[in-house]
Amino acid sequence: MKDKLLSPSIFIGVQGDGMISFGSGQPDLPPPERVFRILPKYRQFKYGLIPGQVNLRKALAKQYGGTADDFVITNGASEALDLTFRSICKPGDKILLHKPYYYSYLPMINFNNLEPVFTETIRGKIDISDFDNKVRGCKAVLINSPSNPTGRVQEVSTLKEIERLCSDLDITIISDEVYKDLIYVRENYMLKGPQVVTINSFSKTFAMCGLRIGYLYSNDRSIVDDVIEIKTHSSMNTNILGQEMAYEATKVPSAYVDNQVAIWKERRDVVYKGLMDLGLELWNPEGAFYVLPKVKDPRKMVWDLFKKHKVITYLGEWFGAPDRIRLSYALDVDKIEEGLSRIEKYLDS
Ligand SMILES: Cc1ncc(COP(=O)(O)O)c(C=O)c1O
Repeated sequence: MKDKLLSPSIFIGVQGDGMISFGSGQPDLPPPERVFRILPKYRQFKYGLIPGQVNLRKALAKQYGGTADDFVITNGASEALDLTFRSICKPGDKILLHKPYYYSYLPMINFNNLEPVFTETIRGKIDISDFDNKVRGCKAVLINSPSNPTGRVQEVSTLKEIERLCSDLDITIISDEVYKDLIYVRENYMLKGPQVVTINSFSKTFAMCGLRIGYLYSNDRSIVDDVIEIKTHSSMNTNILGQEMAYEATKVPSAYVDNQVAIWKERRDVVYKGLMDLGLELWNPEGAFYVLPKVKDPRKMVWDLFKKHKVITYLGEWFGAPDRIRLSYALDVDKIEEGLSRIEKYLDS
């Protein structure tokens, strides 16, 4: 029989019928109002430029530095990650990633015939000596801070040491920054330097995940050119209406993000305290919107919560953490509290 808990696909999009979903990492907060304003008058449905609309790339260059030519607009961060692997790697190349990791990293690495190398984390934080031991011989390292699934933010000193090591060893850093704005503990420190490929999207900060607008940023012209060449023959341009809506999002005042972070932080506090009160061991999330508690028999728990208590959670093994389950707290406080009380019932039973 096919493994019923083989992948998150069994839960993606499942809702209604009293279900409380701590599953998908999909913000429930509304996108900024101004992104809708262009819709009634929008009439442009031709092919767009493969690297992306110039206005959007220029706006991103204002935020990040560089020029519009250093950016490629992609179908979400997902396509940006895949195109980066395809442009910089050849089959058999090694990619270092910190564990636990986002569940799509490993399939993407496998689809591209690359070899994953894992560096362990301590309470979700990169252990720089383990990193140092494993990084040699790798083509690229993949960093994700704040992290899905741990919610942990890497120390600035660690990130600077990674920059130094990768620069000395001429190793590409692929920095997945999709949660860079959703951070509770400090300002985000963005990895930088000529060896860094920055990946981001409008999915999380602006709650626009269905529009599929992401991007990559690199000062290395050969990477950008290769990405454009591959994209020309795979997906072609990214949806141009979505890009215009994303462009509107770049004009939103920073207060929008501050308000969102305040909401996420309140939810983080409720879910963290709630799970601690239930006696579970977990790390306090410092960003993003996930917790990764350690539980007994995660497969039974995820399945029984789903079938008997109408609660969706994700299996830690999908993220390289087989003794844990992952909860996304992208839902309002009332639902989080109801979900926690159902988890309590499960634990009591
Ligand atoms: C760490 C990480 N990277 C990339 C993605 C994909 O994001 P996008 O919707 O922009 O493709 C996700 C989505 O959950 C994520 O958590």
